[in-house]
Amino acid sequence: MSFKAPYPPYDPLDTAGYDTVIRRWPIIITSVIDELHNKCHFLSLQLKDSAEEAGKAELEESVAEGNQIIGKISKLKYEMARDRELEPIDEDGEPNVEVYNKGLEELKAEAKNTWFTAPWLYAECYLYRLLRSYFTATKHWKLYDPFLSSKTKTFKHSGDSVYKLATTVYELAKNKDELRADPAKIEVIFKEMIQMCLWGNATDLSLLTHLTEDDIKNLQTVGKDAQAVRSKFILKDDQEEVWNHVKGLKGARVDFVLDNAGFELFTDLVFADFLVTYTPFVSKVVFHPKVIPWFVSDVLPVDFVQTIEQLLDPTFFSDLAGKDTSAAVEEHLHAMAKRWRTYVEQGVFELSVPLESPIGVDAEAAFWTSPYPYWNLQELSPALADDLKKSGLVIFKGDLNYRKLTGDVKWPSWTPFIEAIGPLAGLFPLLSLRTNKADVAVGVPKEVSEKLDQEGEKWRVDGRYALISFVPATK
Ligand code: F6P
Ligand code: MG
Repeated sequence: MSFKAPYPPYDPLDTAGYDTVIRRWPIIITSVIDELHNKCHFLSLQLKDSAEEAGKAELEESVAEGNQIIGKISKLKYEMARDRELEPIDEDGEPNVEVYNKGLEELKAEAKNTWFTAPWLYAECYLYRLLRSYFTATKHWKLYDPFLSSKTKTFKHSGDSVYKLATTVYELAKNKDELRADPAKIEVIFKEMIQMCLWGNATDLSLLTHLTEDDIKNLQTVGKDAQAVRSKFILKDDQEEVWNHVKGLKGARVDFVLDNAGFELFTDLVFADFLVTYTPFVSKVVFHPKVIPWFVSDVLPVDFVQTIEQLLDPTFFSDLAGKDTSAAVEEHLHAMAKRWRTYVEQGVFELSVPLESPIGVDAEAAFWTSPYPYWNLQELSPALADDLKKSGLVIFKGDLNYRKLTGDVKWPSWTPFIEAIGPLAGLFPLLSLRTNKADVAVGVPKEVSEKLDQEGEKWRVDGRYALISFVPATK
């Protein structure tokens, strides 16, 4: 690759990496094993009840394959804890196997091919691609997302914040014409939206392995007051620069490189809805999902489709204790989700891959689940780069996208963001909205980062701080 960063990558023994390797990965892997056990148990019960021979054979095969996957994952957990070598991924006909295996050879040459010695970003991406290969190797589990039930469960607990935001949007609708004609008002709401969409990233299942449901709810608290309190946690704030760029657009396309399903995706959709419905600047939004189960909570095509259906289902949030939602508030949500469904039908909201894409689809989208930093985009995925160049603004959501934008290397934190994204800078207008969950951070004034370090703040990793980083197009 032609671009070489002047600093080494973070490795798993750096703060957030260490916690990930020692604590989070085992929890995540164990939860996949539990999920599969439950599913196999359920299939075994079905098997008992099944009268028909052909159906029985299929179920038996399915249970046997499920147990094989459990065996492989258990072995993986054992080897990971003992810092064993990362094994090559079996050729499974899906993208990126060669890419990962070539990376392993290079790491082996440097004696950095074990779980604790490989670069953290590489090892973590490899883990999810390896897990995927265990499912691809089967007949019955090819389309299985082991994280689906945890995504759905957590989203169900976001009901309060979802309803609150739906009502805010409903209030906006009342003044739609006035709003569209008044840039000063749009500016205020635009910035509110950016912050709402930013803090939506605080909810991430791979990080929240130690938080209670109440903690999660608090992270999702929305509204002006909560945002005012949070603004002091935004250590780089390019809201003004993004606004100056966006207000010059006319009927443009905006892209979201998505992060997490559930509440974060909901906030992305609210932001997208605001841009196309209430401003003259944007007329189309393209969403880029992942195509394999990724970092637990990332959006797959099916999550995108299901989220809108869940919002339209009046019972989806209703089994929650303490929910007290009036019919009017339910109607606010319903009206908004109906509009989104229409936008999808009309192509105003578009997914970058076909809506019905199964897991593992071979597409340009596979770039997002490679281990590469995004500064290689033009070189490695020129068609995707050319497509994004048509966008009026590409919004990269979340922590992992930020790590890939900056290569997850040890930049001094006062390095300008434009420098840290290498050759990606200037290809298209780029906005990153990220709450800090991993060590890499740039664009933070030296005195600010040094003060936080002296005070013992875990500002790089604890999810309480955030960065809003914008770079305009120049190329
Ligand atoms: O280990 C925690 C972690 O998986 C990080 O590696 C990753 O950057 C982050 O959580 C995922 O966060 P997000 O969903 O915001 O990208
Ligand atoms: Mg994520």
